[in-house]
Amino acid sequence: MVSPATASNGAWSGAAEAPASGSAVWLSRLRLSNFRSYAAAELETDGRPVVLTGANGAGKTNLLEAISYLVPGRGLRGARLSEVDRQPPEAETGPETGPETGPWGGPAPWAVSAEVVTPAGPRQLGTGRDPAATGRERRLVKVDGSLVSSQQALGDVLGAVWLTPQMDRLFLEGASGRRRFLDRLVLSFDPAHAGRITAYEHALRERARILRGDGGPADPDWLAALEETMAERGIAVAAARRDLVGRLAAACAEAEGAFPRAGLGLAGDVEAWLAEAPALEAEDRFKAALAASRRKDAETGGAALGPHRSDLAVRHLARRMPAAQCSTGEQKALLISIVLAHARLVGLERGQTPLLLLDEIVAHLDAQRRAALYGALLSLRAQAWMTGTDSGLFDDFGAAALFVTVRDSRLTL
Ligand SMILES: Nc1ncnc2c1ncn2[C@@H]1O[C@H](COP(=O)(O)OP(=O)(O)O)[C@@H](O)[C@H]1O
Ligand SMILES: [Mg+2]
Repeated sequence: MVSPATASNGAWSGAAEAPASGSAVWLSRLRLSNFRSYAAAELETDGRPVVLTGANGAGKTNLLEAISYLVPGRGLRGARLSEVDRQPPEAETGPETGPETGPWGGPAPWAVSAEVVTPAGPRQLGTGRDPAATGRERRLVKVDGSLVSSQQALGDVLGAVWLTPQMDRLFLEGASGRRRFLDRLVLSFDPAHAGRITAYEHALRERARILRGDGGPADPDWLAALEETMAERGIAVAAARRDLVGRLAAACAEAEGAFPRAGLGLAGDVEAWLAEAPALEAEDRFKAALAASRRKDAETGGAALGPHRSDLAVRHLARRMPAAQCSTGEQKALLISIVLAHARLVGLERGQTPLLLLDEIVAHLDAQRRAALYGALLSLRAQAWMTGTDSGLFDDFGAAALFVTVRDSRLTL
C-alpha cells in the first residue's frame, strides 16, 4: 500500500511524510457531450486520484482530452476543434436517421463542463466549439455560468499538465514539442502566457505572409508594426519561460525519490539576450534583428530568430547526460520527475495544485517506480487522472484512488 491517505471533505490529509503543497483543486463533476466517442457522459469524483481503466479504444484518452480543454490552449491532442465533434458510428447514420446536427447544421458541437472545488469555493467551468463561428474555429468559454471573452479565465481557476504516450519521444523529436510542454508548465503559473503566444504567432504568420508578397508589395509601416508586436510579445514569452525554467530547475535539483533529478536549461538567442540585458533592451534588439532579416525571412518563409525557435534542454543529472541519450525508461522517468516537481512548485507558489492528466503512465514503470509514483501523487494532493488497460497495476492505491471502468465510451464506478 502507498501512504495511508484518507479523504476528509474530499481533500487529502494523512500524507504525513510530505509537506502540504497548497490547497488541492479538483473536479467534483465532469460532463461531456458530443465529445469524440462520447455522445454524453457524466462522472462524479472526489479529491482522490482517478484511475480510468478499459480496453484499447474504450474512450480513456478522449476523457483526458476533454479535461484538457478546461484550461487555456489547444488541448491534449492539439486537435482542430471540429475534429473533436462526435462522428456517430455508421450504424447510427444513414438516410433515415442522419447524423445528429446542431442548430447551425453540421455535426452537433462538442462541449465539456465541470464543477471545480477550489480554495475560494466551488466554481463552474464550461467550454466547447462555437457552432456560430465562421471561418476560424473558436472555443466558447463559460465561467460560473457566464460567457467570457478569453480562455485565460479558465486558467485563473484551474491548471492542468499532462503526459501522454506520444511524449515518450519528446526528447528525440524536434523542439516544438518541448516548447509546447514548457509552455504548458508556464501556464499553470501565468494564465496570460497563452494569449501572448497566440498574439506572437499571429504576428509572425502575418509578417511571413506579407514578406511572401501575398496581397501585393509589402507596406513597411505594417511590417514594422507587426515586428513591434513580435518583439513585445516575444520577449514577454521568452521572459516567462526563462523565469519558470529557473525556478523549476531549482525545484528539480532538490527533488528526491525514485525518479531521477532533471537539469533544465533554455536554449535560444532571445533568451540569451534576456540573460545579458533588461527586457526593454532585448525588445529593441529583437526588433532590429527582425527588420534586418526581412529579405532572408522572405526566402525561408519564417523568422530566423525568436521564441518560436527556443528549446528546452533537459539533462539526467546523475548520469551527466542529455535526456536524448538516456534510455526510453529513463526519459519517461525524467518527464515524470519534472511534472511532479512542477506540481509541487505550483502548489507552494500559487497555493493550489494543478490537475495531472497521466495517460498510460505506468505502462513502462516497474513495481517500485509505480509505488513511488502513487506515493508522490498522494502526497502532492493534486487530482491525478490516470489511464491504463490493466486495473491490476493500480492495486497499490487500494481505496486511496477512485476506480472508473471505461467501456464503449461509458463510465462506471
Ligand atoms: N470525433 C470522433 N467521433 C467519434 N469517435 C471518435 C472521434 N475521435 C476519436 N474517436 C474514437 O474514440 C475511440 C476511443 O479513443 P481513445 O479515447 O483514444 O481510446 P483509449 O481508451 O484507447 O484511450 C476510438 O475508437 C476512436 O476511433
Ligand atoms: Mg489511449
